[in-house]
Amino acid sequence: MNRPSQPPGGTELIFGRVKSLDAILATAEKKSLHRSLGAFQLTMLGIGCVIGTGIFVLTSAAAQKAGPGMILSFVVAGAVCVVAALCYAEIAAMAPVAGSAYTYTYSVMGELLAWTVGWALILEYAVAASAVSVGWSGYFAGSILHETFGITLPTWLSHGPYMPGGFINLPAVVISLLITWLLMIGTTESARVNAVLVTIKVVALTAFVALTLPKTHGANFEPFLPTGILGSNGLGVVGAAATIFFAYVGFDAVSTAAEETKDPQRNVPIGLIASLGICTVFYMLVAAGAIGTIGGQPLFGADGVPFTTGSAELARACLIPANAQALVCSNEALAHVLRQVGYANVGNWMGYAAGLALPSVILILMFGQTRIFFVMSRDGLLPEVLSRVHPKWKTPHIVTAITGVFVAFAAAFLPVGQLADIANAGTLYAFMMVAIALLILRKREPNRHRPFRTPAAWIVAPLTIVGCIGLYFSLPYEAMAVLPIWGAVGLVIYFLYGYRKSYLGRGMADGGEPIDMAPPGSH
Ligand code: ALA
Repeated sequence: MNRPSQPPGGTELIFGRVKSLDAILATAEKKSLHRSLGAFQLTMLGIGCVIGTGIFVLTSAAAQKAGPGMILSFVVAGAVCVVAALCYAEIAAMAPVAGSAYTYTYSVMGELLAWTVGWALILEYAVAASAVSVGWSGYFAGSILHETFGITLPTWLSHGPYMPGGFINLPAVVISLLITWLLMIGTTESARVNAVLVTIKVVALTAFVALTLPKTHGANFEPFLPTGILGSNGLGVVGAAATIFFAYVGFDAVSTAAEETKDPQRNVPIGLIASLGICTVFYMLVAAGAIGTIGGQPLFGADGVPFTTGSAELARACLIPANAQALVCSNEALAHVLRQVGYANVGNWMGYAAGLALPSVILILMFGQTRIFFVMSRDGLLPEVLSRVHPKWKTPHIVTAITGVFVAFAAAFLPVGQLADIANAGTLYAFMMVAIALLILRKREPNRHRPFRTPAAWIVAPLTIVGCIGLYFSLPYEAMAVLPIWGAVGLVIYFLYGYRKSYLGRGMADGGEPIDMAPPGSH
């Protein structure tokens, strides 16, 4: 066992502390949660987690990056997610435990890399929750307050400083703190509520497609690739894919429900792949409907380069009356398109659907974040106080409150597109590590029982790795820079704290009390 007093070097330092997969599985067996979920419920859970701000809001940002070519961006991002999901499915079915990519990495590549994955997952879950809060705010301020009640929130209260005249995104702060409170007092979402919300989203998107597709004009798709396939600094089809990847984030929640799944061998992979497949088809149709009806060309600066999404320059360009109705200028893309094509009321209903359904995505993402922190704290890598459970609410209330403040702060001041890009950077890293873990396990333990085997793993996993790296390097420069900086901060914290305190490193059993790990909407 490694002792902090005798620091090992080289590979021993990086790969030395591996948590045995058998020990993880034994813990999971001991807890033996009631297995009640089937393939259908898992698919509903996946769709419940996945459809959100990505399609309802980021469609504008994707158009600014790729124009009509963003339809292809949904395919590129969806394809990377499908191969990643296939990798997730093999490991999730083999090790159906909470903690997701963090736990898998711990058992395959050791504590240090697991820490980096857990640290990156903070970006996936917490920053993504901020992004969805900002997305929700656009629909709340537009369709609900403005269109329905005639109340116009001043710019300084509805946008962060990235917008001329903006100061704080108050609705985003309020919704994220409200969800935090619900999570603290132990509110979870029943499978029935999730099913209702999924139905609302699916009906809203179906109505959008049915109303817009008949009104599309071929001319709106010209030029199809105004920024090319591989533009620089987050532009082009692949750049937009790196942003729109956000629309698929959350499907890994299905893998975290594996512990509660009947016949996970069969049902987890079906749930992952069915939810992604259904979403991809919807997204492409919605993108085609939006572009085909009102067009979706980017707005260019005087230098001939498209304005950066979320920038003050783009915000100013959108104030010019000739641009005001452009898809790329809308905070509530889908409602805006419907209003433009003469369905003002349906547009408002789209806003109500988003207003109702997006908070559940925030809830699921924040729940995921608190459970990752919880597991990391239970492993001794974060202070024990974070896995303290409230005596009455039975929730990790302290870590939930800390997460909520962080989520609200980021939502208050940053634009949705930038938040989504940062969340994507963390997610892409975690997905890549899952694919690497899959290959290492295949090599190291070829005979371990694999209830689900990723087909053509030696092609699918490398494709996942290449896809994740490719999308990462297609992000805008600032979003790309966040991951290594965040990672470096994480490593300093690990060596100052986790390395010494790790239960595994000290040869001790996991700490902490058991809590509900099943994602909201699963039971
Ligand atoms: N995929 C989720 C969304 O688009 C995170 O909101």
